[in-house]
Amino acid sequence: MNSFHDLVIHRRSYRKYTSELLSPEQVRLILEAALMSPAGKRRNPWHFVVVEEKETLEALSKVKDSGAAPIAQAALAIVVCADPNESDTWVEDCSIASLQMMLQCADLGLGSVWIQMRNRGDEYDWRVDASVAYMGLKDKYILPPSAKDSKNLFIDLEAKKNFRVGDKLNNRLLVAVKGGLRNAMEGCYCYGGTHEEYPTITMEAADEAYLTSDAWHVGGSLTYSQQIKEDKKMHVFLKAAVDYHKSKADAFDKRTFASCTLGFNF
Ligand SMILES: Cc1cc2nc3c(=O)[nH]c(=O)nc-3n(C[C@H](O)[C@H](O)[C@H](O)COP(=O)(O)O)c2cc1C
Repeated sequence: MNSFHDLVIHRRSYRKYTSELLSPEQVRLILEAALMSPAGKRRNPWHFVVVEEKETLEALSKVKDSGAAPIAQAALAIVVCADPNESDTWVEDCSIASLQMMLQCADLGLGSVWIQMRNRGDEYDWRVDASVAYMGLKDKYILPPSAKDSKNLFIDLEAKKNFRVGDKLNNRLLVAVKGGLRNAMEGCYCYGGTHEEYPTITMEAADEAYLTSDAWHVGGSLTYSQQIKEDKKMHVFLKAAVDYHKSKADAFDKRTFASCTLGFNF
């Protein structure tokens, strides 16, 4: 390049590479460009990990769902990390150092690309969960003398879409829809009744009818979550969920469950 201006105009992101290895001198120049970059209060909170091992490069290329594939073919990757407790300008410091390294690469005629890892890889866009569960119940009661016996098979499917509302405080909206079947394989309820002079009202019979019959359910939930403070893992979330169950029992044919949850993840 003839001038710095030429360098910044012609630098591009490259995602395909030759198999040629870098010389130790080239690696030294790139790291020097990083170490000489400015940092808030000169705290230098960064750590640069040079990765050349093929297996580790391949593992890094799979750390997030998309956008990291070029690492697998690269001759070398530099993982830029920092301890957030060392400086509150660590994101800026690491970003500047990364750009300096990319400019140094361009000056050496080497292709490079920034692969974003911070706030990536630990979340999904889409997720589908399928589950099969079995529940067996065998209860005996002395007063009134009763016995419950039921065997149920649950088959459930849930699809979730994770929307990124904002990156600053990691705001996310999670929309989930789910549905499932319950197959009552076996079930009986032997209720001994109440004393004729002291009748009691019980929901048990209807409840058991519900548990010992085939059923299906559909539902969904909406969850909004937000990080409490930048660089802290803690999130607050608000979740609203509805689940409608329809059973084939005569005594109890449908149920709707609704819930609202305020919680923290940390
Ligand atoms: C903060 C940041 C994150 C980026 N993340 C990725 C990434 O994960 N994967 C990728 O292939 N490119 C990534 N890039 C490269 C950009 O896609 C690229 O710089 C942009 O498209 C402009 O193209 P140019 O660099 O050729 O001018 C990232 C760039 C920056 C600055």
